[in-house]
Amino acid sequence: MKPTILLTGATGYIASHTWLALQTAGYGVVGVDDFSNSAPEVLNRLQRLSGERPIFERASVCDAAAMEDIIGRHRIDAAVHFAAYKAVGESVAKPLAYYANNVGGLVTVCEALQRHGIRRFVFSSSATVYGEPARLPITEDTPLTATNPYGQTKLIGEQVLRDLAHADPAWQTACLRYFNPVGAHESGRIGEDPRGTPNNLMPYVAQVAVGRLPRLRIFGNDYDTPDGTGVRDYIHVTDLAEGHVCALRRLFGHAGSFTVNLGTGRGCSVLEVVAAYAAASGREIPCEVVPRRPGDVAACWADPTRANELLGWRAEHGLARMCADSWRWQSMNPRGFET
Ligand SMILES: NC(=O)c1ccc[n+]([C@@H]2O[C@H](COP(=O)([O-])OP(=O)(O)OC[C@H]3O[C@@H](n4cnc5c(N)ncnc54)[C@H](O)[C@@H]3O)[C@@H](O)[C@H]2O)c1
Repeated sequence: MKPTILLTGATGYIASHTWLALQTAGYGVVGVDDFSNSAPEVLNRLQRLSGERPIFERASVCDAAAMEDIIGRHRIDAAVHFAAYKAVGESVAKPLAYYANNVGGLVTVCEALQRHGIRRFVFSSSATVYGEPARLPITEDTPLTATNPYGQTKLIGEQVLRDLAHADPAWQTACLRYFNPVGAHESGRIGEDPRGTPNNLMPYVAQVAVGRLPRLRIFGNDYDTPDGTGVRDYIHVTDLAEGHVCALRRLFGHAGSFTVNLGTGRGCSVLEVVAAYAAASGREIPCEVVPRRPGDVAACWADPTRANELLGWRAEHGLARMCADSWRWQSMNPRGFET
């Protein structure tokens, strides 16, 4: 029988792409989400894309009784835990909500899994755990630090999982440190649908290209980078989704726990992204340079060697493809999942 994966935060941006990748790889999926940052319409799109009716439970991962009930009713073999709040600025304003949801939710899911003897767990961590790195590219051994409550919840989440695996080596955990996920499924049917004004560069550029926002504000062009704008390691969301499939394959095939970076190993500047997006969309992207945003680092990109060696995983898609897929999603769904 094919293993079944509990996917929390299942209708969110990265999880919805991972859902499809898991199905393609032959896994069963039970999705859980409370729709705090996603839309039920995602389930219709997943059904159309996979030809299967998604198995889905609407619940909060902080609801211990609901998690106990869901895990008890489905035959789960492993969990991939995406559910979390992710807005850095909001985490500064509402730290308690972030600790309760991101740390409390993680602990609640692990407790319910443990009671049912399920001890394979993949965690959505983030490159934010590296803070402002002294050296590039960033390996997994780069010192860890948090510069805001959101980052702190990821550091604590990783620590919880290390402690758990230390206390009971039957626990196998995978911490996946994502760099900057962008792009969309090639069908254009699912993609990133931020609520309100996007916090991240590519969805912002996408909304400028489609005419929803007037111009892109570039936060600083005086960084110590080749063109003065911030440099990030953008990774196609379907490559990231494949990383989860590879991580699960590793957990099912080998004992032990691991932490890996999921990035391309290449940094792109804001101006490079703008040029690539203009080329992909055939639209002009008006830009305005404004002062730096506090807390932004100049440059950040991954050394993805460990993920390649341990999991046999490597990002396949470059910036042009990321922009083309993002644009297809944005232009086919100018109002996101609102129908
Ligand atoms: N997108 C990024 O740039 C990025 C980078 C690094 C790490 N991550 C992490 O990856 C994960 C997924 O991110 P995403 O970009 O897909 O975000 P997203 O907001 O699109 O997805 C998160 C999903 O979790 C759900 N959720 C939140 N709290 C919940 C709760 N208590 N119970 C049930 N569902 C809940 C939301 O409704 C949403 O559907 C998060 O843990 C995020 O911190 C994201």
